[in-house]
Amino acid sequence: MKDHLGRTIDYMRISITDRCNLRCRYCMPEGIDCIPMTEILTLEEYRQVAACGAALGIRRIKVTGGEPLVRLGCCDFIRMLKEIPGIEKVTITTNGILLGKYLEELLQAGIDGINISLDTLDPRLYSALTGGGELKSVLSALTDTLRACKDRQIPVKINTVSMDLKQAALQLGCSYDGPGWQEMLELARRYPVDVRFIEMMPIGYGKLYGSADHQKILKQLKDRYPDMEEDHKVHGYGPAVYYRIPGFQGSIGLISALHGKFCHSCNRVRLTSQGYLKSCLCYEDGADLKKILQSGKGREETERELLAVMRQVIGDKPGEHCFEHPERITEHENMVKIGG
Ligand code: GTP
Ligand code: 5AD
Ligand code: SF4
Repeated sequence: MKDHLGRTIDYMRISITDRCNLRCRYCMPEGIDCIPMTEILTLEEYRQVAACGAALGIRRIKVTGGEPLVRLGCCDFIRMLKEIPGIEKVTITTNGILLGKYLEELLQAGIDGINISLDTLDPRLYSALTGGGELKSVLSALTDTLRACKDRQIPVKINTVSMDLKQAALQLGCSYDGPGWQEMLELARRYPVDVRFIEMMPIGYGKLYGSADHQKILKQLKDRYPDMEEDHKVHGYGPAVYYRIPGFQGSIGLISALHGKFCHSCNRVRLTSQGYLKSCLCYEDGADLKKILQSGKGREETERELLAVMRQVIGDKPGEHCFEHPERITEHENMVKIGG
């Protein structure tokens, strides 16, 4: 359906857990409390919301977390989503730690795209940034995933939050002598994988870090690769702008929420693991769908109420984020509770 500004809203991000097997510094450092499981929706409840979403025009679903693969039944859930009439694509964003274990099940379930979060290729810095993550398990899952997805035409993308890796290493007391964010380019050169850089958003712990300026990164890329060209091929349905570098197998994407605001073309809403339908990452605007799902009313009435409330939340979606005015941000949750 269209919102009050005429934007087509056809994408829903569903966070199926606030738990994670990593502790990325800017997202979920040590010491964050987990939401009790009794407050988290069942997979069937998320499915019900997704089915109502489909009735309102949602066509693509991104499954997120926390780390979605730590939720038991994640792959079954993806299969359930794929069976909803109207849902065309179901994709996942994962940190890759459990990807080796679940790759086959994800493919069997019919996954349409896999995004893997990875901020550095330096094993010590990776471990420090993620609170103990093992780089080699992610890299081996990445190569297995690329091999399995190539013939099936399933896009695989890397998400790298742009940051000054040297500065981060210094803060984390870890030695690092790599080239910085440029090291990630090697993956797109060597493999058919898109590498997307993401400006750090001032949500949750992200507020403690400054964002890289992608205008500067773009200039550095253009200086280093003068033949680089904007890539208009469809790579996904998110806000990234892509570039092709001759000789590279994958494209480079820039997700520039701060220095390249993309809200005018926003196409999405978010469902948190607790069943709150959020209309924009930046604000707490939205509605508690859990209350409706668990009201004890019959299926038809529940569905009618869900549809009415969801229609209203989508219709009233804020026009744009206000990250440039942090005092106006009304979302105070951490990213791990929102799902990115
Ligand atoms: P696909 O391209 O379809 O795979 O989707 P995507 O790029 O939106 O998905 P992903 O989960 O990989 O998100 C990548 C980054 O974009 C994350 O840091 C998200 O927080 C950010 N992002 C996704 N949607 C929005 C949005 O609506 N607003 C802002 N500001 N950031 C977003
Ligand atoms: N700003 C930008 N991206 C973030 N992510 C987590 N926190 C932030 C933040 N504050 C990214 C993760 C993952 C994606 C879902 O969101 O690295 O790739
Ligand atoms: Fe876990 Fe992703 Fe947050 Fe890292 S960014 S702590 S992998 S949810």
